[in-house]
Amino acid sequence: MTSRRKLLTVSAATAAGAGGLTAVGVTSLPNGSSNRQKKAPAHLRGVVPLPYAQFISFDITGESERVDALRAAHQAIMAIDGGSVAAWLALGEGVFASSTNKPRHLKRMPSFAGDVLDPVRSHGDLILHITGSSARVVQQAVEQTLRALPQQQVRWRADGTRPENRIENGRGLSRNPFHFTEGHGNPGTAAEITERATVRDYQGEPSWAIGGSYEVIRIIRLATDFWGRDTIEEQERIIGRRKEGRWLDGTPSTERAIFAADPHGKTTPLDAHVRRAAPDRRNPPPTVRRSYNYHRGPDEQGLIFSCFQSDLKKGFEAVQRRLQGEALAKYTLTVGGGYFFVPPPGDAWLRATAD
Ligand code: HEM
Repeated sequence: MTSRRKLLTVSAATAAGAGGLTAVGVTSLPNGSSNRQKKAPAHLRGVVPLPYAQFISFDITGESERVDALRAAHQAIMAIDGGSVAAWLALGEGVFASSTNKPRHLKRMPSFAGDVLDPVRSHGDLILHITGSSARVVQQAVEQTLRALPQQQVRWRADGTRPENRIENGRGLSRNPFHFTEGHGNPGTAAEITERATVRDYQGEPSWAIGGSYEVIRIIRLATDFWGRDTIEEQERIIGRRKEGRWLDGTPSTERAIFAADPHGKTTPLDAHVRRAAPDRRNPPPTVRRSYNYHRGPDEQGLIFSCFQSDLKKGFEAVQRRLQGEALAKYTLTVGGGYFFVPPPGDAWLRATAD
């Protein structure tokens, strides 16, 4: 528990103000054309996201300004999306004038067990995601976008990177701040990514929302110093995979572990992260995870966890509930983030926020 207490102490000390994150050593993506399919919406392009990102959340003030502000943001994002930049926006629940038009599950992200959400790093009416192949192209695109939105009030910002961003055995992988490879449990084809992340016509959602995605962002501080004091074997039992992705029983990362053959958790503990996250290997959680590492000053690093799904309850919320009490919890503290909805391509959604 000492580690979480330390995270809580440092969190309180640094709570004032948002932003100021620094990009750290990241290799650039071997950005084959297969990763940048022209037609896919920016948030779902390819199996691996671009390695640098800035997340900028805004508060939109004034009823009458809402639609104008959203239209301006949409145009600004369209102007930078393409080539070495992939950019998209997502809507918070506050932009919907009527509940009839609001995506069914969209609400203010609740505080889950153990969270200490800092209001200056959480929620927002609108969030822009500007991702790119280098920190420089992202920064240029951010500056261009902010110039186009001079009236809008930034609520919080976060900068992220994906070290060792790559495609391996068809999966988009990177290295998280605990030095573990992330992404093995993600889908490896465009069709499966779309299937997990895109709202369909039979889900009872407002018709404008079909083709959109629910996006969850969690700013998770990681106690990297305490983590570093554990042996690699202990760390691997907490995650439930070897650092590079192989399963603890030796099964290659590309195959399914058979947890049923280990009912008491002798090989893969019952409270290991992957075992809690995805206990039924034949039915993986219907989410697409696309997280970034962040550094915020000398004392804070962590994960900008982000995932997309067609159904918030069956996706993120089901996994988050199962993770309660996992062994990893004592090394983590969620301090921010929010629930958002990425509208489908086009601008028909603008009307939904007005009516
Ligand atoms: C607290 C920080 C976290 C760390 C350090 C972390 C780390 C990892 C690692 C190393 C893996 C194994 C490789 C992979 O499949 O990507 C993994 C898998 C996974 N994580 Fe996390 N994770 C974190 C938070 C979360 C959260 C908040 C969720 C969702 C609520 C989540 C959901 C999952 C899922 C669904 C898998 C795939 C399981 C599988 O199919 O085997 N993780 N995570």
